[in-house]
Amino acid sequence: MRVICAAGARPNFMKVKPVIDALERRGVDTILVHAGQHYDSEMSQVFFDDLGLRPPDRWLGVGSGSHAEQTARVLTAFDPLVAEIDPDIVVVVGDVNATLGCALVAAKSACSLAHVEAGLRSFDWSMPEEVNRVVTDRVSDLLFAPSADAVENLRAEGVPEHRVHLVGNVMVDTLRSNLDRAMARPILADLGLVAGAYGLVTLHRPASVDDPLILSRIVEALGVVAAEIPLVFPVHPRTRTKLADITIPAGLRSIPPAGYLDFLALEAGARVAITDSGGVQEETTVLGVPCLTVRNSTERPITVSEGTNTIVGLEPERLVAAARRALAGGAVPRTPAWWDGHAANRIADVLVG
Ligand code: UD1
Ligand code: UDP
Repeated sequence: MRVICAAGARPNFMKVKPVIDALERRGVDTILVHAGQHYDSEMSQVFFDDLGLRPPDRWLGVGSGSHAEQTARVLTAFDPLVAEIDPDIVVVVGDVNATLGCALVAAKSACSLAHVEAGLRSFDWSMPEEVNRVVTDRVSDLLFAPSADAVENLRAEGVPEHRVHLVGNVMVDTLRSNLDRAMARPILADLGLVAGAYGLVTLHRPASVDDPLILSRIVEALGVVAAEIPLVFPVHPRTRTKLADITIPAGLRSIPPAGYLDFLALEAGARVAITDSGGVQEETTVLGVPCLTVRNSTERPITVSEGTNTIVGLEPERLVAAARRALAGGAVPRTPAWWDGHAANRIADVLVG
């Protein structure tokens, strides 16, 4: 049996690693394809190093560009590769443009297509990821859902039951198997931070960073929070360029994007996380860190109903008020059903049949 596992951007690497390991433990011939949507060392290579992910077998080199350019480059580069390798199954993860491009190619090829992290819905069609999620799920043969709400979404869309498998969350597999190594990293000391006495910030969604007015109001609100607790802010490359013209307030410390182990250590030690990331909403739930999501919706509602997440929207006043509540309160680690560290094993069992 031959399986292509495709990845292309930062959060994909954490999702694909446990799936490859679980398949290889079952003797499956796996081919790791890196689409190259993210390519800077700090957005790509560091995750291979930190996770012990072997170098990609194939590199598509699609790079940056508009949605159309990026997706089109994935299509034209992945199509001949699938024809050459002739896999039984292509596995795609998450919801980035590389996910969609690889899914479309696989759907029109002789192989089966499996989507890991199927069924998540924000119901916000202005998010490019929502388009990627819905289309990828629609063309997938096997849909691996992280939580019961995702299964419900797929059922409501009419996806046949036999295609859908509730397996749990592969991000949590990776978190659990790396947490001890992360906690041994010296990153807190290197940054002069004390566990429980700082907040962690990440922002990279177009809705929060692309409009200079929206971004400057969020940064201003972060300045108010930073007057009460220091904030550390690993800055995504999309956001770096947008921040160039904005004054960064005292107490909000921007640093380059962190590697996975350093970031996990920063998350675990944080008193609060302020983010628009999908993965961070999940990781903070498991780590027991209050998470304030600077968005109007989430495709991961279980992190609110059964986790530590609060959706605070983009209004600065709400962000500051929510941060004050979080700092006065706290949170405990939560384990939504199936987030037990064994999702990839369940996926591999289904794939191997
Ligand atoms: C992408 C995903 C998003 C995901 C995020 C994870 C889509 C539509 N978006 O957003 O869902 O949450 O990745 O981090 O797929 N850049 C670099 N170096 C890199 C990569 C990007 O400098 O290695 C810069 C480029 O200027 C690029 C910009 O970042 O234009 C945005 O990159 P892109 O991959 O288009 O989208 P992300 O915002 O990273
Ligand atoms: N992450 C990281 N370094 C950072 C920011 C995030 O290693 O500086 C990790 C984080 O722990 C999670 C994943 O990247 O595993 C989330 O990726 P991102 O926020 O870029 O994308 P999203 O989840 O929003 O699609």
